[in-house]
Amino acid sequence: MPQDKLDNIRACVFDAYGTLFDIHAPVESNAASLGEQAAPISSLWRHKQLQYTWLRTLMGKHADFRQITRDALDYAFAANGIEDDALKEKLLQSYMTINAYADAASALAAIRNSGRATAILSNGTPEMLRAACNSADLTNLVDELISIEDIAIYKPSPAVYQLAPDRLGMAREEICFVSANAWDVSGAASFGFQCVWINRFDMASERLPGCPRARIKSLAELPSLLTGAT
Ligand code: 2OP
Repeated sequence: MPQDKLDNIRACVFDAYGTLFDIHAPVESNAASLGEQAAPISSLWRHKQLQYTWLRTLMGKHADFRQITRDALDYAFAANGIEDDALKEKLLQSYMTINAYADAASALAAIRNSGRATAILSNGTPEMLRAACNSADLTNLVDELISIEDIAIYKPSPAVYQLAPDRLGMAREEICFVSANAWDVSGAASFGFQCVWINRFDMASERLPGCPRARIKSLAELPSLLTGAT
């Protein structure tokens, strides 16, 4: 598939969970305790986590992403008839030190070496993002950690994406936004970023406004898409 080059990019801003960090790693590392229920529970956990962010923002009833991640896991356990508080705490703790995908560090380093800034823009709390970056050894590769907690509104609100040009001091058109979550790419492209969708698992495109400039399957493909002055 021909890929658009992205012009005059001064910074690459990454979504965190699902893009840099493997959201299914916490359950996979405890799969023995969940057996055949492991994969369905991980999917339902993620689905409810995102659904709760959208519903709470629409309701005007904010709770931070750590609370929502706990609430979503509570739902997934209850929906599967699992009562195991110790396992729940273990999963929530491993979410704080969630594994990064193998392609994350080298892509961040390559973008930094090209003279461009790197940032994370995420629903995660500042504490969650610091813990995840520290445990994955990404801290020194990310110039800015931007959490929606600054405004207590979740993605894909335009107010969230506005945090990035404000923090980085550059125009939205100079920012490449990278996400594995197609709905996040839709919101970010609608806002005015040049977007790249990393579609590792061949998901279908969302029927939503806002299209990515390029679609990739690995972050290793990203640096070569960036052209122009830095
Ligand atoms: C993030 O904001 C969407 O969960 C994803 O990191």
